[in-house]
Amino acid sequence: MSTLKISNLHAEVEGKKILKGVNLEIHDNETIAFLGPNGHGKSTLFNVIMGHPRYKVTEGSITFDGVDLLELSTDQRARLGLFLGLQHPAEVPGVSNSDFLRAAVNSRNEKPISTYKFYKLLDGATKELKMPFDLATRSLNEGFSGGEKKRNEILQLILLSPKIALLDEIDSGLDVDAMQIVADVIKKEQANGKGFLVISHYTRLFDLINPTRAVVMINGRIVLDGGPELIKRIDQNGYEFIRSELGIEINKEESEMNTVSIGSCAVKESIK
Ligand SMILES: Nc1ncnc2c1ncn2[C@@H]1O[C@H](COP(=O)(O)OP(=O)(O)O)[C@@H](O)[C@H]1O
Ligand SMILES: [Mg+2]
Repeated sequence: MSTLKISNLHAEVEGKKILKGVNLEIHDNETIAFLGPNGHGKSTLFNVIMGHPRYKVTEGSITFDGVDLLELSTDQRARLGLFLGLQHPAEVPGVSNSDFLRAAVNSRNEKPISTYKFYKLLDGATKELKMPFDLATRSLNEGFSGGEKKRNEILQLILLSPKIALLDEIDSGLDVDAMQIVADVIKKEQANGKGFLVISHYTRLFDLINPTRAVVMINGRIVLDGGPELIKRIDQNGYEFIRSELGIEINKEESEMNTVSIGSCAVKESIK
């Protein structure tokens, strides 16, 4: 069993303190719904776990199976079996998607994969994702629609086969059919014992992938860690109970800046 362990993690970006003592343990056989209002540090935590150079850890630790991640470069962390599916995948003109994917696969193998084997793998994965094969050969993410970019993140997930995957709003930009396809991939990987920490503002994806746990981040800390029933509660009632029952003030400046959340999602706002 693999364990990603985050202890008393403090981190800042551009001199601004974002993570203020995060404690969280994730195992490879669980799927965790990662909830919290916008702007409270969820994506920051993912970036810090993967070692994004702009984010500075000022206190605390992150270990993966006992190995100190903070000592490792991003590629070394990925090679240990961690993966981040980005909220906003970057467009990289001039780098072909398939070259990029092949280099990523090779960096995890001792011997480079043969062209034949790689294309067979790519063909199988694009079929699984119902992705037109030409997306795999075009420039990385260049001119891809929002949904195509997200599917391309999942394509990487299939090819790299990580132990624990961090998925950041992977469902945004996906239509209903694409969400089902992505959920089917996640379910297959769950059955293979993979772990997931999944940020989403919508319950639709969670209904499809059945998280085993749910955690809530407020003001740069995990303030709740419980069963999947938390997802429905927050979707129906918002985050207010965290203030009234736990006495935790939700930083107004951050939550007012971005009002879209699982508890006050855009659809609900427009219905009101
Ligand atoms: N690269 C950055 N430069 C400056 N501020 C950042 C950067 N990344 C994140 N932040 C700030 O950190 C806070 C938390 O952001 P984020 O982790 O993206 O929240 P969430 O994913 O929960 O919506 C926000 O106030 C955001 O503006
Ligand atoms: Mg985010």
